[in-house]
Amino acid sequence: MSEGLSVVSYLGATILFILCLGGLSNQETARRGNVYGIAGMTIAVLATVFGQRVGSAGLPWIIAAMVVGAVIGLYAARKVQMTQMPELVALMHSLVGLAACLIGFASYVDTSIVFTGAEKTIHEVEIYVGILIGAVTFSGSVIAFGKLSGKIGGKPVLLPGRHFINLACLLIVVWFGYGFLHSEAISDGMTPLIVMTIVSLAFGVHMVMAIGGADMPVVISMLNSYSGWAAAATGFMLSNDLLIVTGALVGSSGAILSYIMCNAMNRNFISVIAGGFGSDGGAPKKKPAGAAAEPVGEVAPIDPAETAELLKEAKSVIIVPGYGMAVAQAQHAVYQITTLLREKGVNVRFGIHPVAGRMPGHMNVLLAEAKVPYDIVFEMDELNDDFPDTDVAMVIGANDTVNPAAAEDPTSPIAGMPVLEVWKAKTSIVMKRSMASGYAGVDNPLFYKENNRMLFGDAKKMLEEVRTALTASA
Ligand code: TAP
Repeated sequence: MSEGLSVVSYLGATILFILCLGGLSNQETARRGNVYGIAGMTIAVLATVFGQRVGSAGLPWIIAAMVVGAVIGLYAARKVQMTQMPELVALMHSLVGLAACLIGFASYVDTSIVFTGAEKTIHEVEIYVGILIGAVTFSGSVIAFGKLSGKIGGKPVLLPGRHFINLACLLIVVWFGYGFLHSEAISDGMTPLIVMTIVSLAFGVHMVMAIGGADMPVVISMLNSYSGWAAAATGFMLSNDLLIVTGALVGSSGAILSYIMCNAMNRNFISVIAGGFGSDGGAPKKKPAGAAAEPVGEVAPIDPAETAELLKEAKSVIIVPGYGMAVAQAQHAVYQITTLLREKGVNVRFGIHPVAGRMPGHMNVLLAEAKVPYDIVFEMDELNDDFPDTDVAMVIGANDTVNPAAAEDPTSPIAGMPVLEVWKAKTSIVMKRSMASGYAGVDNPLFYKENNRMLFGDAKKMLEEVRTALTASA
């Protein structure tokens, strides 16, 4: 491929990536956004592999590696459950970090291009920073994967003087960075580079270990951002403009997403990174996720037939889905009930919390898959004020995201997190299997409110029974 065609291809791929991000910002254009992304990546890979910088000797190796990677990727994408997506994403981020480290070392020992003066310094800074970000991303993502998959406990590990440990890591990295930049020979530079890599790996482990389970969504998106910056640093090392631009797009969009999530959870971004939040750090009410809650009052159960009756009589219904809907795969039953109610003239809307489920947009994807019309799916902020005028708020497998303690109990570990105020509806119905707590492991006083009813059971099974009762009474 000629140099000119390469440049044009890179430019085209960059535009497609920007269109992809734009498309993904809205449900209606998300599918198109994905297509732009796939097209952009295909062009980018082809232009790189068949570009002038890859010699014919290396081509078979690259193609063989791509085939192996594609087979593993296809297998993983087909096998992974939707609810395991955050783990898969964490694992992918770790690979980006590892690649940045390996490319950094390879660039350093590569003697085919000799830099001198300022160019040498710039190249070495790129290598040092690239390996640093890559190592933090790699080890942090591996720990995040372990926590999300339950292989490592979700409890934060708070070492005494952890902020001083972080500061010491920073000073060591700066000190060895000075030594690295002043090394004459490659062999001299290796020691500071290896020490910095080990310190960065340890820092990544320490950083994510210190973060409590409730803050993991922010960590995932933060690591997403880091992986983007690691890719951008790799782009600088390899003088690959497309990698720089793509890395910067991923890095900045990940940072914006982390910020949005922090707002959604009322967390301070710096505090989340510093660790210890979303933890039980002395908070009395927090339990391990899924643990049975202490009874703090009477709960009023309801059965599917009574639920159907309440829904049928309602003028306005807000459905609040959560992680349990994903586990039960109840979205199709939800859609059928929505259709039946709308045919009866009931105003049915969906309220989506920004961190409902286990990944950004988790609920939107499921509802779109079940063909729920986009125009009745609203963000939390768009309809939180409407609950007092709502007859029935139906909570399907959501827990933390509808927990009144966040708004009413300043001692709660999730205090201040904006939640969907379902308890303000005339009646709220919570559909879940037991009294167990949600992801954050916090008791939920909603269950004991006077106007709340508990519909115990698997969400899909219960909803199918509600649908049958609705159809029978039609
Ligand atoms: P959660 O608070 O996690 O609660 C889900 C509830 O679903 C559980 O209490 C569980 O109760 C119920 N459930 C599980 N399987 C069910 C089934 N088959 N049928 C019916 N119910 C079932 O969910 P949420 O309200 O969506 O909140 C999300 C939480 O995850 C937040 O704390 C958030 O910070 C965190 N998180 C979010 C993300 C992103 S990016 N969205 C990523 C990681 C973590 P039972 O066991 O009693 O059934």
